[in-house]
Amino acid sequence: MDIEQIVQDENKYMMHTFGRYKVAIESGKGSRAYDIDGSEYIDFTAGIGVNALGYCDEGWVNAVTAQLKKVQHISNLYYSPTQVECAKKLCQSTGLDKVFFANSGAEVNECAIKLARKYSFDKYGQGRNEIISLKNSFHGRTMTTLSATGQEVFHQFFYPFDECFVFAEANDIDSVSSLVSDKTCAVMIELVQGEGGVMPLDNDFVKSIQKLCSDNDLIFIIDEVQTGMGRTGSLFCFQSYGVKPDVITSSKALGGGLPLGACLCNEKLSEVLTPGTNGSTFGGNPVACAGAIEMINRIDNEEFLSEIKKKGEYIAQKLKALDEVEQVRGMGMMIGIVLKKDNAKEVASRCAQNGLLVLTAKNLIRLLPPLNIPYEDIDKGIEIFKKSI
Ligand SMILES: Cc1ncc(COP(=O)(O)O)c(C=O)c1O
Repeated sequence: MDIEQIVQDENKYMMHTFGRYKVAIESGKGSRAYDIDGSEYIDFTAGIGVNALGYCDEGWVNAVTAQLKKVQHISNLYYSPTQVECAKKLCQSTGLDKVFFANSGAEVNECAIKLARKYSFDKYGQGRNEIISLKNSFHGRTMTTLSATGQEVFHQFFYPFDECFVFAEANDIDSVSSLVSDKTCAVMIELVQGEGGVMPLDNDFVKSIQKLCSDNDLIFIIDEVQTGMGRTGSLFCFQSYGVKPDVITSSKALGGGLPLGACLCNEKLSEVLTPGTNGSTFGGNPVACAGAIEMINRIDNEEFLSEIKKKGEYIAQKLKALDEVEQVRGMGMMIGIVLKKDNAKEVASRCAQNGLLVLTAKNLIRLLPPLNIPYEDIDKGIEIFKKSI
């Protein structure tokens, strides 16, 4: 099948929810992808932050296929040793207490919201159910996580939305505290607003949120769906901020390319969800969990994590040296590039034509390269980027 045929069939048979680049990827290895004609692309996207060890990493493929040959799925009515091992690893590497598994970022954010509301219901009764989120945030595409998302563009068409979310200014603690009332049960943030344009939050602001939460018995939720699994240079970003959230959510790179999400909570919340209060048919699938165990083993390693910071700085330095670049921001290997010409979408398309995959977020170019990308591929990708701007 050629690309024209694929585009035509996609138009005919699929709902048009994605603005796709005209590239049909057939295979990949490491940080290189290959399309159906055999053309090569340096991949600075990692499947939007999912393939953190690149395409078809050998250790990950072995871990996943070994599990696949044992059992592909069991119902959550039975125990899965692989699932339990994965939960144990997540708790041990974060200092959090318990895990609920689902399949995606939105689903684990739903779990975080349920946890916060039920904690509050159990302790204070009805009506304490409002959650403070930040303007410019992104928390997912389900109805409730869209409601939690602080961008007007997402609050249309699908009314009614959950009205128990209010939105504060990022990096303005007065704005957050002014929204606290006897109805508030939680504060929910991303530490680096990814879809919002790669905006890292100030450390003081995040620490002040933690204090506000502990002073008012509010659940402090950090959405680490995009920032987690080494992306910003620590296994989870909250670890480099030096805060202790009550809840974190992880997905994207957690399964290394298979759908998996985890909502982790501390001891205070560990008995809140009881049988029947949450569930998932596929959540914690053993094949996805086998992938996640390999991901945690490989990423949660001082040397690997410090290399992420080094590579992130290396990429940022190279980009800052380009005349067309106004600003480079982000953390670790979560990188946003503001272009002087404000033509990110056009540049991203040209990059794809020239053999480089990049993302956009709002009006900037966003890079989420595989964390183990070799310097040679970074250099090659940046050369293509230069040519494309
Ligand atoms: C911070 C954050 N939360 C939640 C989500 C939603 O994740 P998913 O698409 O897996 O539902 C995303 C996706 O981009 C995200 O970046």
